[in-house]
Amino acid sequence: MDRGRKYIIKGGNILKGELTIKGAKNAVLPALACTLLAKGEYHFINVPKVRDVFCMLRILEHLGAKSSFEGSTLLVDTSSVCRVDIPYDLATQIRASILFLGALTASFGEAVVPLPGGCAIGKRPVNFHEKGLRHLTAEISLDHGNIIAKASKLKGAEIILDFPSVTATENLLMAASLAEGETKIKNAAKEPEVVFLAEMLGKMGADIRGAGEDTIVIRGRKRLKPVKMEVIPDRIEAGTFLILSALFPENEVILNNFPVNLLEYPILKFQEMGGSIKKLGKNTYQIKGIGNLRPIEIQTAPYPGFPTDLQPIFAILLTQSQGISRIKENLFENRFLYAMELNRLGAEIMIEERVALIKGPTPLTGSPVRATDLRAGAALVLAGLLAKNTTTLYEAELVERGYEDLPGRIRAIGGDITIEEELNHSLCK
Ligand code: EPU
Repeated sequence: MDRGRKYIIKGGNILKGELTIKGAKNAVLPALACTLLAKGEYHFINVPKVRDVFCMLRILEHLGAKSSFEGSTLLVDTSSVCRVDIPYDLATQIRASILFLGALTASFGEAVVPLPGGCAIGKRPVNFHEKGLRHLTAEISLDHGNIIAKASKLKGAEIILDFPSVTATENLLMAASLAEGETKIKNAAKEPEVVFLAEMLGKMGADIRGAGEDTIVIRGRKRLKPVKMEVIPDRIEAGTFLILSALFPENEVILNNFPVNLLEYPILKFQEMGGSIKKLGKNTYQIKGIGNLRPIEIQTAPYPGFPTDLQPIFAILLTQSQGISRIKENLFENRFLYAMELNRLGAEIMIEERVALIKGPTPLTGSPVRATDLRAGAALVLAGLLAKNTTTLYEAELVERGYEDLPGRIRAIGGDITIEEELNHSLCK
């Protein structure tokens, strides 16, 4: 993240118009690592132009790949990839850099991947990734903060994950697709982005069964081939726009490419709050504001449970509900940092360990706030739109890790939000 940015948000505007959900960031990131499994040209349709995707592309470029955008279609050519080391400055910017570990080890028999960075939402160790690759017979060691993996030929194995980790499942799926024999991943993550990666690997020639279920069975292949993929819609952006659309009772927003099937649980919670969504056509829905917001209880859980990435977003609307709502965060220990910032705007949120109690309704008024991570930043953008007067969001570049042109798209439906470069950003870090 080179330069800091501020978003200046003038709240109170009623939102009316149409928004289209972009492709899923968390589907594109593993798909980009997957391009290392077979040299050649890949096409990805509907790729979001977000900072994490560009960071992943810069890593691929360092390894020897080429890439270019034509509109929202991304072309990646991995024919000339010749390196197996991921540079520290890029690896530590995004969590998804860990996905290169499985892909490089399987493809080149070697990988040097610095311990990854990413949003500061918790400890986020990588022990499941390492343990799983060891089961596939890779030798793993740690040297000066770099994970070094070596394997002359990976061999299939039975792996039981301690927790259905998304990126660990993805790493092992990729590694197992080039391993000799059969691999079973038990207690695998069921997220739609994992299923998307399994579909990509299947198209590339791997034999994968059970993606989206507890156990995934992979029969590895000697060789895979490059493919063309259309990226699934981003369910977290969709959930963010669902709440954005309902910020004021008078709002009326139409959402295109809206994946209801991937958002069953959040939509259920939205309906419990009093919200309703109306189908207008295939993947097109109309969302209206909620007159009398009811408090709810949320517990985050792996898919198909309530996504941890959407709890900060739902919390914004819950500040306006008639009573006390409760959010229990079960995945990441630092995911309530946004609450302190939201309280600056007038919210009344109490945190006790992994539980947030949100008292509503509390009128919000503008204040300077700071994005502590991607989803916290997006939540505070919504809070600024809901608040009276002006809210300044610092470190807003974090929002751009996962949302393409959020200010521009919000302006298109009537929101007042502008971007300012923050010149002294890096001086006091
Ligand atoms: N965990 C371990 N050891 C590991 C891996 C994970 O203990 O080796 C723990 C984590 O600390 C956490 C839990 O397992 O408590 C689940 O983490 P998971 O590995 O599933 O998360 P992730 O793969 O690092 C992905 C998304 C996140 C999203 C989570 C949960 C990507 C690139 N990131 O992270 O997305 O919150 O799954 O759904 O796919 C975001 O987009 O803003 C974001 C943070």
